[in-house]
Amino acid sequence: MEKIAIIGAGRVGESTAQFLAKNDTCRELVLLDVREGAAEGAALDIQETAPLFGFDTRLKGGTDAAILSGAELVVITAGIPRKPGMSRSDVLDTNVAILDKLVDGIMEHAPDAMLLLVSNPVDVLTYRAWQRTGWPRNRVFGQAGVLDSSRMASFVALETGLSVNDINAMVLGGHGDSMVPMLRYSTINGIPVRHFLSEEAIARIVERTRHGGAEILALKQTSSAYDAPAAAIAAMVDAIALDRKRVLPTVALLEGEYGERDVAMGVPCILGRNGVESVIELPLEPSERKEFDQSLAGVRNDINRLK
Ligand SMILES: NC(=O)c1ccc[n+]([C@@H]2O[C@H](COP(=O)([O-])OP(=O)(O)OC[C@H]3O[C@@H](n4cnc5c(N)ncnc54)[C@H](O)[C@@H]3O)[C@@H](O)[C@H]2O)c1
Repeated sequence: MEKIAIIGAGRVGESTAQFLAKNDTCRELVLLDVREGAAEGAALDIQETAPLFGFDTRLKGGTDAAILSGAELVVITAGIPRKPGMSRSDVLDTNVAILDKLVDGIMEHAPDAMLLLVSNPVDVLTYRAWQRTGWPRNRVFGQAGVLDSSRMASFVALETGLSVNDINAMVLGGHGDSMVPMLRYSTINGIPVRHFLSEEAIARIVERTRHGGAEILALKQTSSAYDAPAAAIAAMVDAIALDRKRVLPTVALLEGEYGERDVAMGVPCILGRNGVESVIELPLEPSERKEFDQSLAGVRNDINRLK
């Protein structure tokens, strides 16, 4: 990819920029932030790691949306993170107001870009960006499930003592406490995790996955998680930039899949050079469908607050 932009040079934005630069994912990487000097400083700091990591990506930062011009992919991390005790929905109004202005700037300066939403509540903001741009759903999507699945895979590795290299976890649904860890589709080298773990251990893993973000926030107090979120974003960007056609859980607009439309949710998608190239509809068992519906209701509830 020639040019990628990251909006929000805070913790998640800066960490994402470092991963993308280190992987030489694109030729040009720009950061945009409202705080004077923040994006410029982050860009320069990362640029100075180039000789150590050996990448050729050129970084630039600024406060003017014109810096987005020509970006093929825009990652949106701008907004306020939640504080301890807050849910992701508690930051909805502030982050929607920020997003609306940003989307107008993106439409003016990077009208052909794809949008990868990260700011929370990510399902609702993905829906909002899709609605406001009027762009097709393949170009507007969000990150949640790659992070949630990575958290779950980490907990499976910690509980079993087995290598993460063999562990595949899948988490669907909204990016909140009602997310849906899909145990049937979580395996260790193709063998369902239930073969290795007791029901008690599985229940612990599911609970810890659902509250993975809150666990870190409670420990750090002044910052929410950003290393794993940034690595998850970088994995999605890599799949798109290199047209890998990876199957990754993605916040996507549903257009009849799972019997739903006019809502954005975490579902497995094929990610490639055209963004969300297709949405995969998995058959759900009644208990999974129940959890999926609960998660969906939470997202719809927040979407209705926008209307
Ligand atoms: N989807 C996920 O899995 C996931 C994971 C972690 C964090 N998040 C979300 O990502 C967002 C960022 O988190 P963070 O920890 O990096 O927060 P942060 O406070 O460190 O960074 C946010 C940045 O956005 C900037 N900003 C605010 N308004 C802006 C605007 N109008 N234009 C440009 N920049 C603007 C701020 O100046 C700040 O630098 C939060 O909403 C957080 O909840 C999502």
